Amino acid sequence: MTDTDTTSTGTPTNTDPTRDRGAADPVAFPQDRTCPYQPPAGYDPLRAARPLTRITLFDGRPAWLVTGHTAARRLMADQRLSTDRSRDGFPATSARLAAVRGRRTALLGVDDPEHRAQRRMVLPEFTLKRAAALRPRIRRIVDERLDAMIAQGPPADLVTAFALPVPSMVICALLGVPYADHDFFEEQSRRLLRGPLPADTRDARDRLEAYLGDLVDRKRQAPGDGLLDDLVRRQSADGAFDRELLVAFAVILLVAGHETTANMISLGTYTLLSNPRRLAELRADPGLLPDAVEELMRVLSIADGLLRMATEDIDVDGQTIRAGDGVVFSTSLINRDESVYPDPDALDWHRPARHHVAFGFGIHQCLGQNLARAELEIALHALFDRLPTLRLAAPADEIPFKPGDTIQGMLELPVAW
Ligand code: HEM
Repeated sequence: MTDTDTTSTGTPTNTDPTRDRGAADPVAFPQDRTCPYQPPAGYDPLRAARPLTRITLFDGRPAWLVTGHTAARRLMADQRLSTDRSRDGFPATSARLAAVRGRRTALLGVDDPEHRAQRRMVLPEFTLKRAAALRPRIRRIVDERLDAMIAQGPPADLVTAFALPVPSMVICALLGVPYADHDFFEEQSRRLLRGPLPADTRDARDRLEAYLGDLVDRKRQAPGDGLLDDLVRRQSADGAFDRELLVAFAVILLVAGHETTANMISLGTYTLLSNPRRLAELRADPGLLPDAVEELMRVLSIADGLLRMATEDIDVDGQTIRAGDGVVFSTSLINRDESVYPDPDALDWHRPARHHVAFGFGIHQCLGQNLARAELEIALHALFDRLPTLRLAAPADEIPFKPGDTIQGMLELPVAW
């Protein structure tokens, strides 16, 4: 794809007349990947533009794109960059995101000090210790899904048989959401993150809020033993019951808790099957798995395009981000900064990948990262251990994957064994 293409997601082209025109036209962001585990070829000019450069968003607005690793970690921790999506002029990377910009978003949509107070309410449930305690339960869920997939026999779509149900069941158990409703909330999450029209996003958000609002009301009458039940119980006891906030928590935890990890499992599996030498190494020494999960997180960078808006002028290596400017972090490019990761496109279990920003950095760094790591390690280990002959059941380049303006992952993953 060249800079002058229109992507299948409708990203505007460099012939867009509403855009700034410099000596070199800013590259459009986001674009569709050509290989699901590498950044789009259209980002190649951005690799040389570190630590930050100008881009054009879907609506023709210019914004800054952060591409350098050191600058990214500094800026992600800089409180002059706001995540408050209700601010006038907050950037969006798709019409879909713009359509729900004003909605109340817990955690990711608030700045300190409100953010700190919200994060404290849920943090104890997401510590390393809690994730370790959940491992036997995750293992059980993973084994049950594999039993069911094996019983059905090959071929199977790994997304629907395994990658999606595993994290979905785990987050339901953790939050106290009935998994029996999974068809409903998985479909609404899909429409929220990937619906064809902005109206789908708004409607999906409305339906999710209505469903989770009813659930919160039921829990208020008869609390059970999930995280949402704990929050309802604590707020009722404090006499500070905030239904709208509880629903906002439920939306972000439920959606972020299953979609992201599901994409990592499907895309991680596709990547391993496409890199047999690396897979063989991993099979020979499963002790490499924790490092392999970090390296897969770095290379796949499935959440590519984290959004902020500057509230004050910020100088970065001689360039000035002005108050009101939109700032986008490209995790796929930051995680390929050659000064930190030599030969950055290569998968290498032996490199220190830990400082990647695939989970973000700073106060908004992923709340669920310990849980996600545990799920990925257990799911990938069990999958390749129990199915030693696992292989793609269609030519690799014919398997469809997600467009560039949403969380990256496979749309389906036909496998056989
Ligand atoms: C491999 C899977 C995952 C990936 C790649 C991922 C990625 C991210 C990233 C990049 C951010 C930072 C966004 C930003 O700074 O703009 C984030 C934040 C967040 N993630 Fe995850 N995530 C994953 C799994 C999970 C899970 C399992 C949960 C479970 C609830 C979760 C819940 C959240 C929440 C609540 C936030 C907002 C935190 C805050 O603002 O304080 N994520 N995630």
